Amino acid sequence: MRKEVDFLIIGSGIAGLSFALKVAPYGKVCIVTKAGPEESSTNLAQGGIASAIYDPDSYEKHIQDTLNCGDGLCDEKTVRLVVSESHQRIKELISWGTEFDKTDKGLFDLAREGGHSEYRVLHHKDKTGAEIERALLAQVRKEKNIEILEYNFAIEIITQHHLGIDVRRTTPDIECYGAYVMDMKTGMIKTILSKVTLMATGGTGRVYSTTTNPNIATGDGIAMVYRAKGKIENVEFVQFHPTSLYNLHEKPSFLISEAVRGHGGILKTIDGKEFMQKYDPRKSLAPRDITARAIDKEMKISGDDYVYLDCRHIGKDELMDKFPTIYNKCLSIGIDISKEMIPVVPCAHYMCGGIKADEYARSTIKHLYAVGECACTGLHGANRLASNSLLEAVVFSHRASIDAIEAIQNINFCHEVPDWNDEGTSSPEEMVLITQSMKEVESIMSVYVGIVRSNLRLKRALDRLEIIYRETEDLFIRSTLSPQLCELRNVINVAYLIIKMAIDRKESRGLHYNIDFPSKSDNLINTIK
Ligand code: FAD
Ligand code: SIN
Repeated sequence: MRKEVDFLIIGSGIAGLSFALKVAPYGKVCIVTKAGPEESSTNLAQGGIASAIYDPDSYEKHIQDTLNCGDGLCDEKTVRLVVSESHQRIKELISWGTEFDKTDKGLFDLAREGGHSEYRVLHHKDKTGAEIERALLAQVRKEKNIEILEYNFAIEIITQHHLGIDVRRTTPDIECYGAYVMDMKTGMIKTILSKVTLMATGGTGRVYSTTTNPNIATGDGIAMVYRAKGKIENVEFVQFHPTSLYNLHEKPSFLISEAVRGHGGILKTIDGKEFMQKYDPRKSLAPRDITARAIDKEMKISGDDYVYLDCRHIGKDELMDKFPTIYNKCLSIGIDISKEMIPVVPCAHYMCGGIKADEYARSTIKHLYAVGECACTGLHGANRLASNSLLEAVVFSHRASIDAIEAIQNINFCHEVPDWNDEGTSSPEEMVLITQSMKEVESIMSVYVGIVRSNLRLKRALDRLEIIYRETEDLFIRSTLSPQLCELRNVINVAYLIIKMAIDRKESRGLHYNIDFPSKSDNLINTIK
């Protein structure tokens, strides 16, 4: 089956949906998404969206906090652009129906999170993402020009490679003609030709054993673009959220929002002692790289499996009012957080790097844009400031739409693209070949490529991964495609990129800490060639 659309969007989180709303008046839009439309990191976002709204806060303070957090690797031009466009984009989210909490006086009820010098996080209780996703989906469903294909899995983007042309990383003017997409219910693979394509596939948390990310977060967009020879940057900077709920075997891990610490929650060791003063004057509200590393160190010193977050002093009514999702979740596993401390542990949360994208979200492949967590715009540098990612997504989907609306005037469909060819393949005999390899990758990454790294651990990770890579490529060549096999390949690709870039970065900076190179160097950019 073949299909032609002006705008192909891969992903239905905040990045994909907000772009769809912007471009819908200008052409036919198709959103493909590999699960139910709301299944996304966006839907799980708790804390909120950052923007300097009232005095004494200012754009400049938000800019400086973002730069400080990014530890010398942010692109200052991008930071200034994102922060200064934040008011317009937030007004737009509100015009699409998003409700942010207000005080009795009708002002936005701003929260605070790690690394922010002011209260500047707009939120909807502790489920801001679900509120944004709800509002965006409701708008998208009203648009006649937008079609959502749910349970449709993008396998590869289509380039000159599929026309039989040799495409290398050094090839200039690689072009994207659309994508091959599998209907997950029938297994049929369709060819979707597009004038422009937006990659909005979200994060990579599933590369690790424990993550706050939903199941969809297997880094598909980054892997697809890497295989298509596009540029990937900064993926060694994996953000571990300091406080996920310690609840063995729960997947994904439930997040205890940083806003709880912004509201007075204090980190303590199991014997009830505060420890963050040893690591940073901002104590429990230090940026995430510092806090996660401090917890990791305390857990290694004590041998404990978790630390505590103490919010008993905040009071039951306040906790239930501000954090109803967190209060009820903890209660459901027997913890009344107004009386007991919450056991927490760091886990993989956010990918700071990704598909290199410019100020209009253009990737290095023509007609292919990247927005949201799969993109690397230069905003986050070596460590993302909390609640800056929802903001980044709306700012860049707006910018991408400006460029894409103009661009489609001069782009034709590439009708020479062949359909997907799966001759000579058969169904894999045993699913265990895929599921076990997935567990092995997660374990390699968690044990050797976590919060604290070393040359020996990274080398060991690369050697182990190579074996799984070879086995999986062999399986891929002989097997009829399945979403599980595609995800495994993508996770291996992303794990490879994280390890390779971590090895090449011969310094410690932001989220990347290597005990063999404990200080910073001047090596600022790290792109896989
Ligand atoms: P997502 O929202 O993850 O959407 C990705 C979409 O791509 C999904 O629809 C998925 O199904 C689809 N997809 C993926 N691969 C394929 C494929 N191969 N084919 C078809 N479809 C595909 N950030 C903040 O700024 N503030 C917060 O308070 C906050 N809290 C968070 C809390 C949690 C628990 C988590 C996990 C993240 C949080 N973040 C927060 C980060 C933020 O939510 C994400 O970075 C952001 O929502 C990413 O949006 P996105 O549109 O790029 O991706
Ligand atoms: C949180 O609520 O702690 C998550 C915020 C973020 O990841 O930006």
